[in-house]
Amino acid sequence: MSEISTGSTPGELLEIAVRVARDAAATARRMRDEAIGDVQTKSTDTDVVTAADKAVERQVADALLPQRPGDGLLGEEYGDAVQVAPGAVRWILDPIDGTVNYLYGLPQYAVSLAAEVDGTVVAGVVVNAATGDEWTATRGGGAWRAGRRLTGSTRTTLDQALVATGFGYDARRREHQGAVLARLITRVRDIRRLGAAALDLCFAAEGTLDAYFEKGLNLWDHAAGGLIAEEAGLVVSGLSGAPAGDQMLVAAPPALFGALHDALVELDAAGGV
Ligand code: IPD
Repeated sequence: MSEISTGSTPGELLEIAVRVARDAAATARRMRDEAIGDVQTKSTDTDVVTAADKAVERQVADALLPQRPGDGLLGEEYGDAVQVAPGAVRWILDPIDGTVNYLYGLPQYAVSLAAEVDGTVVAGVVVNAATGDEWTATRGGGAWRAGRRLTGSTRTTLDQALVATGFGYDARRREHQGAVLARLITRVRDIRRLGAAALDLCFAAEGTLDAYFEKGLNLWDHAAGGLIAEEAGLVVSGLSGAPAGDQMLVAAPPALFGALHDALVELDAAGGV
């Protein structure tokens, strides 16, 4: 892809994102090793934020913004601190995606960092802070893990598909999500709930999962992972032609997308609160 008006190519933005995300992941892991301190709750009693979420977000802001005047940062814990001008970069950060896994020491929590220009994500990286595994993509440049280009699952039928999903933190939303799942699980190979949307998307991108869907995601959960899945050749979309967003995100290889999409429409997966 050619240079964008920020003066940086997607490849250059990715280089910055990878450097910053690796350092952020090291901080998250170190804080986990030292002790989990200061656990607070957000939207509900089960929606937690740790001192590490906040420290990682601060570290990323300090690493990115002073060296790139004009850029903005949309972060899960601090919100959108800066409005960006047309053509400038908005960085989209989930400092620790999979915070509940982090709290319990399950090795599936990640730093997710994307660069968006004029509403389009052009570069993204997801680093599993527990393992160091790393997935990257630039728009038009493919999705990669450890030097290997990702192409998604080759599965073609829904009944053979391993499908991941996630649940919101609101009990009323979960009631509907559980009801949808109770019916979907009879039509697929099996269901996985790993607890970190960014990693679900990366696993779908590399074919470790066949597909993934979730209602209620925030932009920081799926900005980087969504680009990685798309660049691996998956269809990443909402239902009935809607763009992927908080109503629904489905990520599946083209051969599986239609069947999963239609099942989700039939089961009213985007419904409920
Ligand atoms: C959550 C995780 C989880 C998903 C939730 C997200 P957080 O993000 O990605 O897998 O099911 O919808 O909110 O709170 O750990 O950053």
